[in-house]
Amino acid sequence: MAMASLFRFLLLLHVISSGSFQIAVGIGIGINYGQLANNLPPPSDVLSLLKTLKVTRVKLYNTDSDTLTAFANTGIEFMVGVRNEDLQRISDPTQAQLWVQQNIRPHTPQTKITSISVGNEILGSSNNQYAPFLLPAMQAISGALTNLGLSDDIYVTSAHSYVILENSYPPSSGSFKQNLVGYIKGILDFHSRTNSSFLINAYPFFAYKANPAQIPLNYSIFEPSKGTTDNVTNLHYDNMLYAQIDAVYSAMKLLGHTDVRVRVSETGCPSKGEPDEVGATPENARLYNGNLLKRMEKDRGTPANPDKPIDIYIFALFNENLKPGPISERNYGLLYPNGTPVYEIGLRDDGSHGYVLPQMEYSSSTKNVMFFSNVFLLLLMCSL
Ligand SMILES: *[C@@H]1O[C@H](CO)[C@@H](O)[C@H](O)[C@H]1NC(C)=O
Ligand SMILES: *[C@@H]1O[C@H](CO)[C@@H](O)[C@H](O)[C@H]1NC(C)=O
Ligand SMILES: *[C@@H]1O[C@H](CO)[C@@H](O)[C@H](O)[C@H]1NC(C)=O
Repeated sequence: MAMASLFRFLLLLHVISSGSFQIAVGIGIGINYGQLANNLPPPSDVLSLLKTLKVTRVKLYNTDSDTLTAFANTGIEFMVGVRNEDLQRISDPTQAQLWVQQNIRPHTPQTKITSISVGNEILGSSNNQYAPFLLPAMQAISGALTNLGLSDDIYVTSAHSYVILENSYPPSSGSFKQNLVGYIKGILDFHSRTNSSFLINAYPFFAYKANPAQIPLNYSIFEPSKGTTDNVTNLHYDNMLYAQIDAVYSAMKLLGHTDVRVRVSETGCPSKGEPDEVGATPENARLYNGNLLKRMEKDRGTPANPDKPIDIYIFALFNENLKPGPISERNYGLLYPNGTPVYEIGLRDDGSHGYVLPQMEYSSSTKNVMFFSNVFLLLLMCSL
């Protein structure tokens, strides 16, 4: 059996056998399709997986031509990326125009590219050397899109690491790091002028991992907790992600911007980690991502910004075996490379417009994962 059809067969079988890997979410689910792996299925096989997951929006870290081609005429919306190492070159308008002509033009309009994220986590991280080129590159790409008549359909943005915040607690006191304010102010002005969104990668898991004695696990994974109350606004937060998002809104307000939307370009929880990576378990990852999807279904905003529904790209579609760093880095996926779920996050309509996680999976998700993995391993071996 050819690898591709074997893969489809396994997927089909899995969907039939599990019967619960279904998510009924109204607004589009976004997911990061990271590809730092040597064992992922071809993009053409990923479409069926996304449909099963009800994913309608995909974020790529590059403009991988095979992927964009495979998703032509599918209606899936793409956020594509300019790689960090290309920023300096792209900050030259001529080079930016060439980049758009070569990487975007050939795929539109048949593949629905709706935004371009220029660089990933440039500010405040180990990539800070690219910081001076970030805004110029965003402006150059934006100019190129205008020149090529694409600016109505595609907006320009950049995904930021949460380390750009100096203070995030309480959320009303959110502020950006002083040494980055110069860059961020210009970027916010750009977003304001072009009506585009500010993107942040937010991981309550990191905060919990760094301080498990102080931070309640439940608070960081959307499970029942006392939550926190912002002592300035008196607003109550029942989960950390919303507090993190509102801290970004507060930091933007300090720079004079209440006119820019915050979107979460990455969030997630690893299903496995190093011994000292507290919280990295399949159960916590399932709860975090499953609960997050339920929240998104409600289409509501955060306590301080109730009229701005949360908009999120989950990290990530697959476990990626070539990602460097601790074990957790290679275990953020909802799916194993063979397409089977790492854990079940299926939501079911409870019949009263509420969505609930299937009951049995609360207690036995680890066993289920083991069971399905073993069955598939067996099938894989039998079929080969
Ligand atoms: C800004 O963008 C949003 C979509 O993100 C759209 O609904 C709105 O109409 C736009 N506003 C302007 C002034 O173009
Ligand atoms: C955490 O949430 C679970 C429900 O998933 C609940 O049973 C438990 O009591 C909560 N723990 C705390 C400390 O509130
Ligand atoms: C609110 O709490 C923060 C952090 O715990 C503290 O630094 C600040 O002084 C408090 N502000 C007020 C108005 O109580």
